[in-house]
Amino acid sequence: MKLAIIGTGYVGLVTGTCFADLGNEVVCADNDEKKIESLNNDDIPIYEPGLEELVRKNRRNNRLSFTADIKEAVKAAEVIFICVGTPPREDGSADLTGIEKVSRVIAENMDSYKLIVEKSTVPVETNRWVKDTINMFGKNSNKFDIASNPEFLRESTAIEDFMNPDRVVIGVESEKAEKILRELYEPLRTKIVVTNIKGAELIKHASNSFLATKISFINAISNICDKVGTDVNAVAEGIGLDPRINRRFLGAGIGFGGSCFPKDLKAFIHISERLGYPFDMLKEVQKINEMQKELAVSKITDMLWNLPDKIIGIWGLAFKPNTDDIRSAPSIDIIRRLIAAGAKIKAFDPAAMEKTRAELGDRIIYCKDAYDAARDADCVALMTEWNEFKEIDWQRLKSVMRQPVILDGRNIYDPEKMKDMGFRYAGIGRG
Ligand code: UGA
Repeated sequence: MKLAIIGTGYVGLVTGTCFADLGNEVVCADNDEKKIESLNNDDIPIYEPGLEELVRKNRRNNRLSFTADIKEAVKAAEVIFICVGTPPREDGSADLTGIEKVSRVIAENMDSYKLIVEKSTVPVETNRWVKDTINMFGKNSNKFDIASNPEFLRESTAIEDFMNPDRVVIGVESEKAEKILRELYEPLRTKIVVTNIKGAELIKHASNSFLATKISFINAISNICDKVGTDVNAVAEGIGLDPRINRRFLGAGIGFGGSCFPKDLKAFIHISERLGYPFDMLKEVQKINEMQKELAVSKITDMLWNLPDKIIGIWGLAFKPNTDDIRSAPSIDIIRRLIAAGAKIKAFDPAAMEKTRAELGDRIIYCKDAYDAARDADCVALMTEWNEFKEIDWQRLKSVMRQPVILDGRNIYDPEKMKDMGFRYAGIGRG
């Protein structure tokens, strides 16, 4: 099929590349000319394992191309995926001006039947606006369908998630749209959930909110574990073996970050309020997540007594391993709080150094590896569970630190072993 992908952010780029790899002819369009120029030179602006190779391969096969001319991309395609950003506004609601602009360009350049698919995470009922806009500005307003096809891929495993999804959700209001989308996803041989458009839009909100709720739930349990003196990892294991609960996303720690959960929660809270059903449970999920960051600071303070002039070595800055993304990363928030309390920060992350430098400038010291970040430190605080932080030479570490103190913000170390090796150790909810 001939596809146009509008917006070459995370979702757009991965979606376009994977659809090309499945044999479709894909044009990815973006009004950011510089980005398009980079992409046309095989220079991928995001860090995502395997993506660069896949882009290169499909460009060589002439199945994937990039353009700054959105109009041309629209004209050439039968199916158009809207993948533009929907950033949060001051009040938490999603800013949909990008979606509106694209809808107008599509309307003005529709010279044949088009299936227009929302892939960006958008508030339920956005499709109505897209449809009205296309009807208003379209020259050929009879010849189009709208569909919603939310994306569930995760950063760092995006290609694997796209190619082997648990399910594909499509929201449609015509048989033709359903048929086209079924055909497009057929090669993935997965369960396809077909519903109406509002249902599909809501599935995305509900899915991310539920996952965030799981994380905050286990973080709340971790606080109880600390108070009674037991280990949250064992509790998570014990409840997670029940398939109705499931162990995944029960990792207690310093909280969730990234470009999705915090933003999507805010947007969903905003939508539900507007709809007259304030979803207060989700406000609690947010509150627990905020409290986890403060908890990290107070655990460090409890181990070091006073923070002014103490040196804290930070291991991991990205919001999760295998990405360079620091958007809403708990680490950045915690670092700001530690600096405000008078501590000095040395930090290392295998991928996110550049992005952190752009965010924090010279307020912290940037180090070349885990041991460098720990040198002369009064405490090492693990923020992101990169594999390389799991393979530590503890004696070497102890010899470079000023005091052998560890905050394990992702519960990856064994508390007993750490204590046996002479470290003062605190995890999150480990008693
Ligand atoms: C999330 C969803 O998992 C995807 O399904 C969805 O498509 C995506 O948002 C999106 O809406 O675009 P992502 O933000 O890439 O994906 O990352 P996750 O792997 O979900 O992790 C999010 C945060 O939760 C990270 O900060 C991670 O450290 C934290 N987390 C995750 C925990 O604190 N504990 C856990 O047990 C799991």
